[in-house]
Amino acid sequence: MIDLTPPRDSLDPIEIASRDEIMALQLTRLKWSLRHAYDTVPMYRQRFDAAGMHPDDVTSLGDLAKLPFTTKADLRDHYPFGLFAVPRERVARIHASSGTTGKPTVVGYTQGDLDVFGDMVARSLRASGVRPGDMVHNAYGYGLFTGGLGAHVGIERLGATVVPVSGGMTPRQVTLIDDFKPDAITVTPSYMLNILEEFQRQGIDPRACSLKVGIFGAEPWTNAMRAEMEAAFDMHAVDIYGLSEIMGPGVANECVETKDGLHIWEDHFYPEIIDPETGAPVAEGEMGELVFTTLTKEALPMIRYRTRDLTRLMPGTARSMRRMEKITGRSDDMIILRGVNVFPTQIEEQLLATPGLAPHFQIELRREGRLDAMRVHVEGLPGHGAEAGAAAGTALAKRIKDVVGITAEVAVADPGGVSRSEGKAKRVVDNRPVDG
Ligand code: DLL
Repeated sequence: MIDLTPPRDSLDPIEIASRDEIMALQLTRLKWSLRHAYDTVPMYRQRFDAAGMHPDDVTSLGDLAKLPFTTKADLRDHYPFGLFAVPRERVARIHASSGTTGKPTVVGYTQGDLDVFGDMVARSLRASGVRPGDMVHNAYGYGLFTGGLGAHVGIERLGATVVPVSGGMTPRQVTLIDDFKPDAITVTPSYMLNILEEFQRQGIDPRACSLKVGIFGAEPWTNAMRAEMEAAFDMHAVDIYGLSEIMGPGVANECVETKDGLHIWEDHFYPEIIDPETGAPVAEGEMGELVFTTLTKEALPMIRYRTRDLTRLMPGTARSMRRMEKITGRSDDMIILRGVNVFPTQIEEQLLATPGLAPHFQIELRREGRLDAMRVHVEGLPGHGAEAGAAAGTALAKRIKDVVGITAEVAVADPGGVSRSEGKAKRVVDNRPVDG
């Protein structure tokens, strides 16, 4: 793989500023953001008042922890525009995330917010090794989802060429990559696996394709998956993180030269890690739930928003800004099986470590008698036969037992038997009776 390290002088000065400088900027912006939220959004005013806190009481970054949290339920309760901090006419764009149940979560941006959004995605792409003049194949879905348009604007902002393909029509994705010869692809990792399979189906060698880097996000994926993708395409694979409530893609991104976790763009998003049970801040470097406060958002300021994503914070390396470890999973996706906590990423790791199986999987939760049970649906490799697949399935069940510590049934389907993703993969299907 070729070295894609961006030239130092192409970075925003704040990316490599001193911690003192970054923290001073954060405090100034935090004060503005708290006051903006308090002055313009009734919910924040009521919450702060009830907590006996006024924005002026926050005189250090640590004081932020005295303020109440904001949750997805708050967005739902104020559907659609009740938390907007500017008149509706000043909102330049709306996005929404579908969610699994009920009403979508609606978010809004002023033109100023969209400028920051574009800048942060451009910064993320540059950290990934994309340069002005490069061509980027954007296979994140366009529409209410922030992935497609978010990446699109950032690609343009960087001065690269955007190919706005969106998700789906997988054979065409491969044709366009083969014909246009893009330098980079932006796509969910699960859809990239689907695209990889299509390369093989069309008899095109993925390692010979033009892609130098894949920028994968919108769902959890492991370092084992990184190794798989990098080997399959002979390209770099870096992680991009974000969520619509805070902005969209580009809240944090890995640097291609280190790939050691995602640098959080702390000049706009202030991170905390809390104990998901108690809400108390955890000790530095400990795992917990990621919480964000927006520092510059105009249309939808978010104060201490609970992401449900589990990770830990680490000091900066390639940039001065702090890093978060690759997301283990969402607390909502955590499976508790007979007392053991399991995340789909742990199953992904074991699957990729087991020879003879394709990298596609889905977890089915079932009820057997009075106990919960897990069945992992995987598939054998094309042309290897059912017997080899079954043996590999047995090996995977053993690995899951030995390493993850749970008993799971592994069901090995024929190649193509596990459903494919065109965006965010659905990793868990819960077939347990609803009465609990
Ligand atoms: O998924 C924004 C995005 C688009 C990020 C494209 C990256 C690339 P939402 O639909 O609001 O926004 O979903 C946000 O997705 O809270 C995480 O649980 C998960 N997620 C996003 N990026 C990552 C990642 C977009 N790199 C939710 N690793 C978040 C793990 C991720 N999970």
